[in-house]
Amino acid sequence: MADLSKSKLWWWWPLMARHRRTLHWGLVATVWCSVAASVVPYWAGRAVNALEHQDWHGSKVFLAWMLAFTAVAGVGRYLMRNTLIGLSREVEREQREALYGFLLARPFSFYERQRVGDLMSRVGDDVGTVRMATGPGLMSFLQVLSILPVTLGLMIHTSWRLTLAVMLPFSFLALGFYIIGKWSHMVQQKLQLAFSALSTFSHETISGERVVQAFGLEEARVAQFGALSYRHASLSMKQSVIFSAYAPLSALISGLSALVLVAYGGSLVVKGALSLGDLTAFTGFLVAMAWPMMSLGWSANLFQRARAGQERLEQLLQSPERALPPAESITLPAVPASLRLTGVTHRFETGRGLGPIDLDLAPGDSLAVVGSIGSGKTLLLQVLAGLREPQGGQLRVDGELLGDTTLRRHWAGLGWVPQEAFLFSDTLRMNLAMGRPEASDEEIWEIARVVAMDELIRRLPDGLDTVVGERGVILSGGERQRTALARALLRHPRLLLLDDALSAVDAETESRILENLRGFLGTSTLVVATHRVFVAETCARVLVMEEGRTLQLDTPGALAAQPGLFARLKRLQSLEREIVSGKQRTH
Ligand SMILES: Nc1ncnc2c1ncn2[C@@H]1O[C@H](COP(=O)(O)OP(=O)(O)OP(=O)(O)O)[C@@H](O)[C@H]1O
Ligand SMILES: [Mg+2]
Repeated sequence: MADLSKSKLWWWWPLMARHRRTLHWGLVATVWCSVAASVVPYWAGRAVNALEHQDWHGSKVFLAWMLAFTAVAGVGRYLMRNTLIGLSREVEREQREALYGFLLARPFSFYERQRVGDLMSRVGDDVGTVRMATGPGLMSFLQVLSILPVTLGLMIHTSWRLTLAVMLPFSFLALGFYIIGKWSHMVQQKLQLAFSALSTFSHETISGERVVQAFGLEEARVAQFGALSYRHASLSMKQSVIFSAYAPLSALISGLSALVLVAYGGSLVVKGALSLGDLTAFTGFLVAMAWPMMSLGWSANLFQRARAGQERLEQLLQSPERALPPAESITLPAVPASLRLTGVTHRFETGRGLGPIDLDLAPGDSLAVVGSIGSGKTLLLQVLAGLREPQGGQLRVDGELLGDTTLRRHWAGLGWVPQEAFLFSDTLRMNLAMGRPEASDEEIWEIARVVAMDELIRRLPDGLDTVVGERGVILSGGERQRTALARALLRHPRLLLLDDALSAVDAETESRILENLRGFLGTSTLVVATHRVFVAETCARVLVMEEGRTLQLDTPGALAAQPGLFARLKRLQSLEREIVSGKQRTH
């Protein structure tokens, strides 16, 4: 990607460097088209001169040349557009793919800093501004560069004095464009920020639309949206005002040139220093030059916009988080994973978080993690999953430090069920089998039985082929959780991490699932974060956490006998169960 600190003018070159050949052909077509188009007025002048001398045959020949050059210019223009605009589309595709690849290779921490709406605006809008510059912008710029020397050459050849007089106003144009360009760049940067604020806000509002409606926040959200939208609109208007200065400035300068042409050129014709045909040709040259000169402002502006867009893309690409190691195909050992945490810490700026914590998990171990809300259970599981890098201490998996070389292997054997299940807007089958696309229907149904979902799938109109809607909206919270659990189980993981994965499932179904799990899992290493004591009791050991640290670590039986959170929870929840079962008996 471009290093903007090195060159402000050539920032786009690194994007195009790979396509030098196409660019060369585009340049050839542009020069072809421009030269041919610039020569047309010359033949027009010759034809008028011939008419003046009543040379009918000569004028016909010159007109034929004029037509021929017009046709050649047309073909050149077609080739130029095809090559250069096609090239910009290709560059856009590459840039989008690179960005997408970049985003997919970012670790967890990156997404905690970013907002989806903002990322979307960069992938969409900013890449679009870059395409406008590398396509139409570059094309008009090359056109100006190739038309100017030919036209100027022919003008000087015809009359250097008139050329000087006519070109003088044009030098002011360059100065005007420079000033306008600087100004519009500043506004453009603000405009792109305003757009990403707007798209972040609307993305958030639309995703949280139910909360907005349920809490009657519509008016407040609309007002906030209105304020953001107003800022965007006023900046856009400011930008339009700046842009609209280009056209009058260009028109003024062209008008001045035309005035000079008629006044001074006319006097030269009267004096006999210039032929009528030459004056006609000059008029043609001026017309041929006026359009590229005007579009110079437009393309300068496209470059300003695109530079602001590219700067934002660069900022994103220079995010401090390290890239994840690339995916690879991995053959795993059949044995369950062993894990060892030594002095692991992961604390946020607020001081809250995890650690320092030590933990040993032998292959096939089962551990329940309990603790009050915010005690660090999720963070611990995320560290064990390799999703968060410890800030201090070490995490060893199968005796090896978890790092770039081992992370993908760790993930290949991992079944992670997050606290909030995420489903893709695809079929249930795809959501279940995404970790193992080759899984047969029998396997999927077997897992569905384990998580007590088989009944539900049979009831769905299209069974496994039911499309679950965005984020699984047609399923209930408990159904989504069970889908996420089934997805993890289908991989037959060496390490299964369940983060409160059945919190939305009723206690009875949860017991049934846990019963099934025990038979199904065999010897996987298992870590379960939970608020339910009877779930914790299915594990060999229980870790009680507080403020991200270990408070107690023992067997469930031993912990129940010691004063502490676990014993308290057990008493409370046993009482609850007794009341529930007592009620059931009386009914
Ligand atoms: N991305 C984050 N940025 C800042 N603080 C965070 C972040 N994630 C978690 N925390 C803080 O770290 C602490 C532990 O969070 P964690 O999610 O591990 O709690 P938990 O034990 O899983 O809670 P729960 O029972 O509600 O799931 C909390 O105090 C939380 O506020
Ligand atoms: Mg949690």
